Amino acid sequence: MNVDQILDQFEATGTQTCFHGRHIEPQIYKDLDGTNWRLKDYVARGGYAALRKILGKEEGAETEPLTQDQVIATVKESVLRGRGGAGFPTGLKWSFMPRQFPGQKYLVCNSDEGEPGTCKDRDILMYNPHIVIEGMIIAAYAMGISVGYNYIHGEIFQVYDRFEEALQEARDAGMLGQNILGSAFSFQLHAAHGFGAYICGEETALLESLEGKKGQPRFKPPFPASFGLYGKPTTINNTETFAAVPWVIRHGGQAYLDIGKPNNGGTKIFSVSGDVELPGNYEVPMGTPFAKLLELAGGVRKGRTLKAVIPGGSSSPVIPAAQMMELTMDYDAIAKAGSMLGSGAVIVMDDSRNMVESLLRLSYFYSHESCGQCTPCREGTGWMWRVVDRIWHGHGRREDLDLLNSVADNIQGRTICALGDAAAMPVRAMIKHFRPEFEALIEQAAQRGAAHA
Ligand SMILES: Cc1cc2nc3c(=O)[nH]c(=O)nc-3n(C[C@H](O)[C@H](O)[C@H](O)COP(=O)(O)O)c2cc1C
Ligand code: SF4
Repeated sequence: MNVDQILDQFEATGTQTCFHGRHIEPQIYKDLDGTNWRLKDYVARGGYAALRKILGKEEGAETEPLTQDQVIATVKESVLRGRGGAGFPTGLKWSFMPRQFPGQKYLVCNSDEGEPGTCKDRDILMYNPHIVIEGMIIAAYAMGISVGYNYIHGEIFQVYDRFEEALQEARDAGMLGQNILGSAFSFQLHAAHGFGAYICGEETALLESLEGKKGQPRFKPPFPASFGLYGKPTTINNTETFAAVPWVIRHGGQAYLDIGKPNNGGTKIFSVSGDVELPGNYEVPMGTPFAKLLELAGGVRKGRTLKAVIPGGSSSPVIPAAQMMELTMDYDAIAKAGSMLGSGAVIVMDDSRNMVESLLRLSYFYSHESCGQCTPCREGTGWMWRVVDRIWHGHGRREDLDLLNSVADNIQGRTICALGDAAAMPVRAMIKHFRPEFEALIEQAAQRGAAHA
């Protein structure tokens, strides 16, 4: 299928970005065809077997239930790292939940997915919603939580509607609600949707929004594990993180770890976009060479060469082509190269792209999405955008690159949440790797100015 056919299909059917059959060892996207999302289809694919296993309710036999400690130990062993961006080990996060806390505790799924380039979670929810529901029930069991929410990005309401339908199916089948599968464990799960603000993907802003307030990040500490939703202990994970859990429980932590590479267990879904022949979501083992991922995505557009890659969503620093072609796709390798695997949104840029123009687009996004609480972020993101704007439009000054680096320095590490860092890092990386492109425009402006003097 070529890119035009894929885009035609996309326009005709919505978001069919994961049915191209070009995944390697998929677990989450395996055997999806766009229609087989219902509970009966999921059960036919082995769904809810992990839930039965932990509750001791396996088909045809009453078995010994797993203890909470056993479930958490299995997730720790798998080295499943959070797929929302930071790559924090999931089992460790679950162990922070004060299980003996006498009051209400909450579980939250972060399906806000606002990072530019990322489009994997909406496909999971649309085409395999029960895998997230099962993952959340298992997490709730492990941490002794009785109420959960899935916060779903606004603007994609068909995904929200689909998840609500799947929730009802699970309730009707006794998988959710009181005494799940006849066990002593009860868990109520609800869906909630945002209205498209990028900042509501930051976990504490999400909690504020879920409480019905303005979506602005909180100071940390205290962290959500002690002061989360409505001030109660709360665990938050990304959609893809929860979606990985059923496989881990069914097959064991070590088996999951073995699919990826040390310290980077399992598969990861990469949303490959930009200048490739076959954009889409690709699920591959952690540690897959970038060159292989690019090949799956049909390679760089015909007649073009690779210039650079933003490997983990718009906030991750850009990596030049030659360096990127040597890297593997996992948290540690990308971090060693000075960037981040982030949410797994791989934005491919070919030699037709001007980096000043690309940075202009990115800086505008961050200045638009700043929530405005901290002065360095509120003022600095707009300042960086205006400076890049004047360079791109031929009015750059020779001191502008130093100025941009200085503004970025004064944002990074000085704000309440990581949006400030996310805005600063692309600016520094673009200047570091592609300085001549900025200098050429600034020099042209200086010479025009001299000619008019
Ligand atoms: C500005 C900003 C936006 C974020 N957006 C998302 C998002 O859309 N989805 C997500 O899962 N995590 C997002 N995160 C990360 C979350 O704060 C949090 O770390 C994550 O949901 C934890 O889940 P994990 O441990 O499974 O990765 C964002 C963080 C920041 C600073
Ligand atoms: S860093 Fe930016 S987005 Fe985050 S709290 Fe501060 S102003 Fe808001």
